[in-house]
Amino acid sequence: MNYIKNGVISLLLVQFLKLSLVSAKLEYTVVVDANKDPSSLNCSEDAFITIMDVSVKSEGYCKSASCIIDNSDHVVLRRLCENSTNCLIYGSNFSSACLLEQRRFDLSYLCEAPISLDCSFESDLLCHWEQGTDDDFDWTRHSGKTHTGNTGPDSDHTTNSKYGFYMYIESSGKDRNDIAQLISKPIVCKHVQCLTFWYHMYGNRIGSLYVYKKNRTQMDIVWERHGNQQNQWREAYMNLYCDEEFQIVIEGKIKDSFQRRLGDIALDDIYLFEGSCENGVKIICTFEDQQACGLNNAFDEPEYLSWTIEQDMATANGPAVDHTIGSENGFFFHLKSLEDSGKGRLESSLITFIGPKCLIIWYYIIGNNANNLTLYQMSIDGKREIMSVHGDTEENWKKSTISVYIALNDKIIIEGSIKQIGSISLDDISLSEGACIGN
Ligand SMILES: *[C@@H]1O[C@H](CO)[C@@H](O)[C@H](O)[C@H]1NC(C)=O
Ligand SMILES: *[C@@H]1O[C@H](CO)[C@@H](O)[C@H](O)[C@H]1NC(C)=O
Ligand SMILES: *[C@@H]1O[C@H](CO)[C@@H](O)[C@H](O)[C@H]1NC(C)=O
Ligand SMILES: *[C@@H]1O[C@H](CO)[C@@H](O)[C@H](O)[C@H]1NC(C)=O
Ligand SMILES: *[C@@H]1O[C@H](CO)[C@@H](O)[C@H](O)[C@H]1NC(C)=O
Repeated sequence: MNYIKNGVISLLLVQFLKLSLVSAKLEYTVVVDANKDPSSLNCSEDAFITIMDVSVKSEGYCKSASCIIDNSDHVVLRRLCENSTNCLIYGSNFSSACLLEQRRFDLSYLCEAPISLDCSFESDLLCHWEQGTDDDFDWTRHSGKTHTGNTGPDSDHTTNSKYGFYMYIESSGKDRNDIAQLISKPIVCKHVQCLTFWYHMYGNRIGSLYVYKKNRTQMDIVWERHGNQQNQWREAYMNLYCDEEFQIVIEGKIKDSFQRRLGDIALDDIYLFEGSCENGVKIICTFEDQQACGLNNAFDEPEYLSWTIEQDMATANGPAVDHTIGSENGFFFHLKSLEDSGKGRLESSLITFIGPKCLIIWYYIIGNNANNLTLYQMSIDGKREIMSVHGDTEENWKKSTISVYIALNDKIIIEGSIKQIGSISLDDISLSEGACIGN
């Protein structure tokens, strides 16, 4: 069994973050037995099946000495199962002669589960990135200043301190046009992914930084910068279209010039998320698909109420229309208490992308002025209030905009408290890149 442990952790994150699917692989073998039709191939909810090998391994399954399965049966199997999360197969789906004798055979398949390519280079060294093997030297993981003055950053981007780590190419002692590559795990995705990272290119003899999209046969440049970009961290972002499985290659190149030691290029805080960069939004919960996008009820006290996804609550002391589509058919998250007072608490999954973000939430409160909606940021240092509103919104959806600085593995907690009667509803919760501007 070939199993990447982080895959499981990331599975929990993916609903909330909609991260890219890269191939964390779990391999299974099933025995397909026509006498016990059907056999099922199952992966967990977010992992997809890839058929590996169909073979008769154990003795006694086939009467003939050797059992070669026809290619047409492989094709049928792929059609039935590949790219789905589970499938059912019947003995009658196969026509190979040896299977007809006694339809039992071993089948191995992979479940490809999502893992995150996000990396701040803090605790998890290279995360799911690897040093290139067809290049001239390696990227160096480092904190504080680089070894040469007048080039490279003074501190990392994530923590902006001498304790935080980043990656860089040390230019001293390298030859002109030498390259160092960082390569991602293979990416399997559906539509488009937005790749962002922070780079620092400061020095008189700065070379080039490239991003390539690599498939089995070639590498295409999708982004590039050349030369001195001043002494500051800058953000890069680009769309990567999911037409086929690909890898991302980030390449630093030493300039063809003298004084190559003044050419340190640094890299930090890589994020990859589903959707196009133009949207700029990493998470948006509209509840229209009736999914809670990773916001879970946290029942840590017995008197806690539950948030539920609802529509048209006009007859139950709630909003008639949602915020997203402004219709009675639209969905929202809802907390109500008809008799007792109480609290309902939602907890987000761990957030793995870090830095300044803009959190926007729409809310609708009915009831006397004692009903409260409070948001907290939960980090290693404890719980911090980031927003609090109370009182009736007078039959309107209202917006709250909050700039937050997210550290690795923070959570957002949303708490509604109701006094006797009324309800609190939420809709269109988003978390986007950068502090909130203008609104
Ligand atoms: C696979 O999923 C099907 C239904 O989706 C279920 O009936 C079956 O028990 C599962 N099999 C295994 C081995 O988990
Ligand atoms: C599954 O998806 C891969 C990648 O998109 C594709 O190459 C393959 O043909 C698909 N398989 C089937 C049976 O649709
Ligand atoms: C597989 O077998 C089942 C049961 O006989 C049948 O309903 C289904 O259409 C078959 N699928 C293929 C692709 O042969
Ligand atoms: C690799 O990408 C190039 C250009 O994007 C494309 O023309 C080529 O068909 C791809 N090769 C494979 C094996 O997918
Ligand atoms: C809401 O907050 C106010 C002010 O902090 C407090 O007096 C009130 O009791 C709170 N309401 C509930 C239902 O907890």
